[in-house]
Amino acid sequence: MRSREAYVRALPKAELHLHIEGTLEPELAFRLAQKHGVALPYADVAELRAAYDFTDLQSFLDVYYALADVLQDADDFYELALSYLQRAHEQGVVHVEIFFDPQTHTARGVAFGTVVEGLHRALIEAERRFGMTHRLIACFLRHLSAADAMLTLDEVLAHREIIAAVGLDSSEVGHPPSKFAAVFEIAREQGLFTVAHAGEEGPPAYIHEALDVLAVRRIDHGVRCEEDAELMRRLAREQIALTVCPLSNVKLGVFERIEQHNLKRLLEAGLRVTVNSDDPAYFGGYLLENYLAVERALGLTSEQLAILARNSIEGSFLDAAAKRRWLAAIDECARAELAY
Ligand code: ADE
Ligand code: ZN
Repeated sequence: MRSREAYVRALPKAELHLHIEGTLEPELAFRLAQKHGVALPYADVAELRAAYDFTDLQSFLDVYYALADVLQDADDFYELALSYLQRAHEQGVVHVEIFFDPQTHTARGVAFGTVVEGLHRALIEAERRFGMTHRLIACFLRHLSAADAMLTLDEVLAHREIIAAVGLDSSEVGHPPSKFAAVFEIAREQGLFTVAHAGEEGPPAYIHEALDVLAVRRIDHGVRCEEDAELMRRLAREQIALTVCPLSNVKLGVFERIEQHNLKRLLEAGLRVTVNSDDPAYFGGYLLENYLAVERALGLTSEQLAILARNSIEGSFLDAAAKRRWLAAIDECARAELAY
């Protein structure tokens, strides 16, 4: 029998919940800080890593936003994204839907166009080198105002040809999806797909709102849906993809230990659960490590691992023909695993 790791690596997978700023490894952060003469509030890589002892979402976001200061020119965004894409390719990721936080950068005087230029160049390079396909998703920071999000939407629309969707992230509690109803309505009218973080730290009511008020196509995280039986039935019935991030959830205290994660229960209740890495440089693992963590801790079968991979393709914004091709490749991979 081949190893579970070899099987999970071989399964064609899409990553649907990945903040590109969350792939900033400490070594690159220090190198870019030196390049731009930015002073980081940490003496070295070891001291920075020691600060990754988060207690909740906000304690993580404070470090994540501070480190983003080192990202200044288009080459920085290119290098950041290409490092992630290379790693993802080595882990069997065939399609990525990447978040970026425009306001984190424009607030520091880095132009929206600079960010998009660097990211897009890396995505095109990964397509050329690895055949990896992509969608780019601009997220609004929900701790900022709806008016600020509306100004950001104007910039998104000015780059309409390379941005596929908008999302909603940052501090969840106290910033319900309905705060952004008007922004999302215009985004949808303009033909953008929509997604939103909901039910990570926030209550199930935020998941309802994201679906009913923002009309999102997927829910990012969504794990607190389990507290609402009717919502669970709805998510299963409508096959709304949940982009679950197991290692993130443990690092940020959503679940105390990985063994307590509800991913398997959600999967067995028929929800379209996917596995993702969120901010892998901060949470101790990229996509493969997230799959293996739940596989080991929750005892997932080979077929359940294949279902997670299928869900990632089904839940993506790929077109129907591309989905069919990847689903057939996953079936083939799962059949080969059974034959071992
Ligand atoms: N921004 C980056 N990672 C995030 C997360 N897990 N939740 C909300 N906002 C984020
Ligand atoms: Zn996230």
